[in-house]
Amino acid sequence: MNDRLRLTVLGTGRLGITHAACMASLGFDVLGVDTDARKVGQLNAGHLPIYEPGLRDLLRAGLDSGRLTFTTSYPQAAAFGDVHFICAGTPAQPGSDHADLSQVHGCVAALAPLLDRPCLVAGKSTVPVGTARRLAAELAGACEGVELAWNPEFLREGSAIADTLAPDRIVAGVTSRRAEGILRQVYAGPIAGGTPFFATGLETAELAKVAANAFLATKISFINAMAEVCEAAGGNVRVLSEILGADPRIGSGFLRPGLGFGGGCLPKDIRAFMARAADLEAGEALGFLREVDAINLRRRARAANLASELAGGDLAGVPICVLGAAFKPGSDDVRDSPALDVAQILYGMGARVTVYDPAALANARRACPELGYAATMAKAAQDAYVVLLLTEWPEFAGLRPGDLASMVARRNIVDGRNVLDPALWRAAGWNYGALGMAMTPPPASRSAVRRSTTGRGHGGSG
Ligand SMILES: NC(=O)c1ccc[n+]([C@@H]2O[C@H](COP(=O)([O-])OP(=O)(O)OC[C@H]3O[C@@H](n4cnc5c(N)ncnc54)[C@H](O)[C@@H]3O)[C@@H](O)[C@H]2O)c1
Repeated sequence: MNDRLRLTVLGTGRLGITHAACMASLGFDVLGVDTDARKVGQLNAGHLPIYEPGLRDLLRAGLDSGRLTFTTSYPQAAAFGDVHFICAGTPAQPGSDHADLSQVHGCVAALAPLLDRPCLVAGKSTVPVGTARRLAAELAGACEGVELAWNPEFLREGSAIADTLAPDRIVAGVTSRRAEGILRQVYAGPIAGGTPFFATGLETAELAKVAANAFLATKISFINAMAEVCEAAGGNVRVLSEILGADPRIGSGFLRPGLGFGGGCLPKDIRAFMARAADLEAGEALGFLREVDAINLRRRARAANLASELAGGDLAGVPICVLGAAFKPGSDDVRDSPALDVAQILYGMGARVTVYDPAALANARRACPELGYAATMAKAAQDAYVVLLLTEWPEFAGLRPGDLASMVARRNIVDGRNVLDPALWRAAGWNYGALGMAMTPPPASRSAVRRSTTGRGHGGSG
């Protein structure tokens, strides 16, 4: 194997494009491989098919340097690569919670028969525990010196480049010192920058990813469960979240009450984790994740009901403005987006829904053609009876009551992400509703908010 490793990236979706461009920026020669010829053509022409901050420039820099190219050819990939990173998708199987591993198996099936020299195949896709061991067996007959490792990816859409170049941790599931050494060589830059490197067995590496996702989902649903109780009891969940987050054993991250989690990873990953645990007869251990999922989905229905309450109880024919379609800010990904889900629930309740999002309009239109879309926030808000803020893009989080007042027909707002200042909006004559807060907060919780001076989390007013 060369001193200067040559890398392939099998599957150039959201993970694969980022990994390929970042590795090229670190000085590696990288070949991205995808079965989608159109995507490969776009990427070779410098067109990024997704929105991810900074990624288009990094892609173009890689192409210009000559270190980054894309192909559909597996023979070319087999001849090129010392390390082959599997970055193919692992969506849910239709009608099941189990992960569909056909893309990952497709990569190995296409590559294995073509390998004729030692190399490392390193999986980055999120897979059910036990997958890597099966793939290692499939590769065992390939060629002397071909090995499998599992190197799960923790990047977050919206900060994918920074998360790749300076990750919190690198996990290398390996079965030999040689495989560990190769991955240490690939990640020499981040390791030198202080990123901890964990060498583990294959199973622990696979579990590291799904366990992290399960924990994060649990934390989000925990605070949203508290939001439900606050709504019933007249508590203020924003203040509660600040108080909880001040305890260093708990921490304030992922403790923002609101519409909950979505996207192409967390929901399908926790469901696939439960399904795999059941296969292993350890389903009971993850029973709590079913509740985590249910709490999360309940928030979507609650947001729609809040809009209906503000509109007077009947949404038939009522114009509604939805701000946000992406599952989170900084991304155009609408896979299992809470915002779009709420928009669809409102549409199902008879509302005339108009959606605006700064990056995800095209994807949203493809996914939900029945909804209305506007090219600007002002157009979406025109004549609306209720405005719902459902994705916390900075331009939405920074909204002031006056920005929309002259456009809407009625001053009703649902703050689905708990990012606006309720006192400000109420003082400007808006009916303000948020998940986890009573419509009119009782005096006790108002004074509790006034005492909050930390400025962390949500600004602490209400
Ligand atoms: N998107 C994220 O932020 C993120 C973060 C961490 C981990 N992950 C995990 O990474 C994996 C990929 O996620 P994604 O969001 O990039 O998916 P994606 O659907 O955007 O991309 C998958 C790509 O693989 C290609 N592909 C399918 N079969 C192939 C084959 N046999 N050979 C070559 N290419 C093939 C598809 O054409 C597509 O371009 C998933 O397991 C996901 O859970 C994703």
